Amino acid sequence: MERRQFLRLGAVASGVFALGGISRIVRGTGAAQTLGVPTVERLVMTNVVDNVYDAFARGGKLDTITVQRAALDPKGLLLFEHGLAYHLESVRGGERREILLDFAATEGSLLNNYGLLKVDPTRADALIVSHGHFDHYGALPDLARVTQGRLKPGITLYAGGEDTFCHRVVVTPAGSVDYGTLDRPALEARGLQVVLAKQPAVVAGHAFVTGEIARVTDFEKPPAAARLVAGPMDSACAASHFGATKVEARPGDMVADTFQGEHAAVYHVKDRGLVVITSCGHAGVINSVRQAQKASGIQKVHAIVGGFHLAPASDEIVSKTVEVFKDINPDYVIPMHCSGVNTIMAVHMTMPRKLVMPSTGTRVIFGA
Ligand SMILES: [Fe+2]
Ligand SMILES: [Fe+2]
Repeated sequence: MERRQFLRLGAVASGVFALGGISRIVRGTGAAQTLGVPTVERLVMTNVVDNVYDAFARGGKLDTITVQRAALDPKGLLLFEHGLAYHLESVRGGERREILLDFAATEGSLLNNYGLLKVDPTRADALIVSHGHFDHYGALPDLARVTQGRLKPGITLYAGGEDTFCHRVVVTPAGSVDYGTLDRPALEARGLQVVLAKQPAVVAGHAFVTGEIARVTDFEKPPAAARLVAGPMDSACAASHFGATKVEARPGDMVADTFQGEHAAVYHVKDRGLVVITSCGHAGVINSVRQAQKASGIQKVHAIVGGFHLAPASDEIVSKTVEVFKDINPDYVIPMHCSGVNTIMAVHMTMPRKLVMPSTGTRVIFGA
């Protein structure tokens, strides 16, 4: 008999968790709260939009996964950009579920690639946005507009915290780059039910999101250039909401962005382990994997997927990260988006048989 797995929410006096899109208040007694982690037999992960498209990327059957590449077709070119979007389709006991995770930077890329990759967003059972950067949410308002009234009734958008909907800026030597604001009321007006999953939450009965990611490593730091713009006092974007430490700032001030509300999306694949999708990885890829393990009580990691945000990192940080990858011992590492060629090279040098190169349009089949 298959062993039941549980999300361990920790010993808390009270808290909020979401189960299948329903928020519940838990009044604890000091005992750990548990939430069943679903196990899927199969997961098909499609990289709908990524930073690169490589027509020569290798596909085929590896030891325990199948990698399918999108053929180059002059009549229908996949578009790629600095952004990320996934389609996730899973099977559990004969039940099929579809989740859309992140939404690229631009409507043109997202909708073009959905069409070419035969992704029908109106079939989605849930939506997840990893964090509030435009390269992950950019086309979400457009998607909500063009599918208004055609998405499944009451469909939930899972975000990790209030800061997903706050104004973000990146400071560069050439000046500030406005990363925009994801407009929560506008999404709700289009029919999306927004859930802030600060604690681990099961999504569509097949996946889970990690909740806030504990910072357990001493070498993974948020990007120094990232800023949040403080909103009005007592609003969801007031500076005091931006992190565990109270921040003194006036509305309009820019404060350091700690990505408190970033979360990772995770599946537990039968007989394989966890597939952890970090998206942009500002919280740290190792922190994200550790959070997924802690939340689920499952140690075996099948694949680490996503942007690891190591492209700008020093060789030392990349090296430390890959050293921990060796300890975690996943079956596969798929470094996308902001992971960087430095990280790809380090993974290739250290664990070449585990590396799957990213490319827009790639489908990876996990499980049976
Ligand atoms: Fe980001
Ligand atoms: Fe990103």
